[in-house]
Amino acid sequence: MHAIVVKDLHKKFGDQVALDGVGFEVEEGEFFGLLGPNGAGKTTTIRMITGVLKPDRGSVTVQGIDLRKAPLQAKQNMGVIPEVGNVYPDLSAIENLDLVGRFYGLDKTTRRSRAERLLVDLGLSERKDDLLRKFSKGMRQRVSIACAMVNEPPVLLLDEPTEGLDVMSRRLIVEKVRELNKKGTSVLMTTHNIEEANRLCQRVCIINKGKVVAFDTPERLRKTVEKIQTIEVAFDRRIDPGILEGSNISKVEACGDKWRIYTEDPDKALETILAVKEREGLRVLSIATCGPSLEDVFVKICEVPR
Ligand SMILES: Nc1ncnc2c1ncn2[C@@H]1O[C@H](COP(=O)(O)OP(=O)(O)OP(=O)(O)O)[C@@H](O)[C@H]1O
Ligand SMILES: [Mg+2]
Repeated sequence: MHAIVVKDLHKKFGDQVALDGVGFEVEEGEFFGLLGPNGAGKTTTIRMITGVLKPDRGSVTVQGIDLRKAPLQAKQNMGVIPEVGNVYPDLSAIENLDLVGRFYGLDKTTRRSRAERLLVDLGLSERKDDLLRKFSKGMRQRVSIACAMVNEPPVLLLDEPTEGLDVMSRRLIVEKVRELNKKGTSVLMTTHNIEEANRLCQRVCIINKGKVVAFDTPERLRKTVEKIQTIEVAFDRRIDPGILEGSNISKVEACGDKWRIYTEDPDKALETILAVKEREGLRVLSIATCGPSLEDVFVKICEVPR
């Protein structure tokens, strides 16, 4: 069973086409990234998965439940962190969490223990009794995230959860989401932060102007922009670069105290390098593969103006 299946979503706002046939599947336990430039349709997609907005065409299932047929049941399976936080400013942090717990029908003891734990994990335990209106943006965002987790849902949807936050808030949030994902929670996250997506997501779907334009693992997507990759290697003594040239290596270039090796197949090239190292009795001081970044892919696919 898939955690989320989105099929052929279409949505128009007046004449503005927001979604033009978006479809993808999130596997159970997967950390999935939805990327795209401003106005691509990420938030619209999330709002359809969470049942806030109805598509003109297309369908959504969450944990096998069709959103049209059993919306309440489907929503029970989701924790949502929306683009604009939905916390209550006149309640304290702990009261916000308690209220969400009540919506989900959790008993008092469970509500308390989960709320206390989440507030500790998200670095808010000292301010738990303060009203939200006194919180900074980052603190409010952390409460919003805790609210989505109180129910311990099997699926988490996060719409740019770390946008505009400092490094510490960002880390607290990412660590918490990662921990839940490790325990089996399926995660769908939208982000502009391509490096974050690269580090966290097992697969990413890039949408642009309401259409899916790329869908793969970050590593395979990176390969699509440039076939040639490079390996930089430093040995403990100078070599004749000719000994590295072979069938899988197209060029060898001196680059400071290192050699830059050009290849279409880093895996095979590495074998050649290791064979030379063994044969010549060399020691490798450092080695790194350098390819195009996920950002290069994003810019190329979405033609984001630089
Ligand atoms: N309520 C609405 N009324 C009219 N147009 C809308 C509405 N919501 C979204 N749109 C339009 O739909 C398109 C997609 O918007 P959406 O908010 O899904 O983009 P996004 O990918 O989340 O962008 P961002 O990165 O800026 O958050 C945009 O052209 C936007 O103007
Ligand atoms: Mg958005």
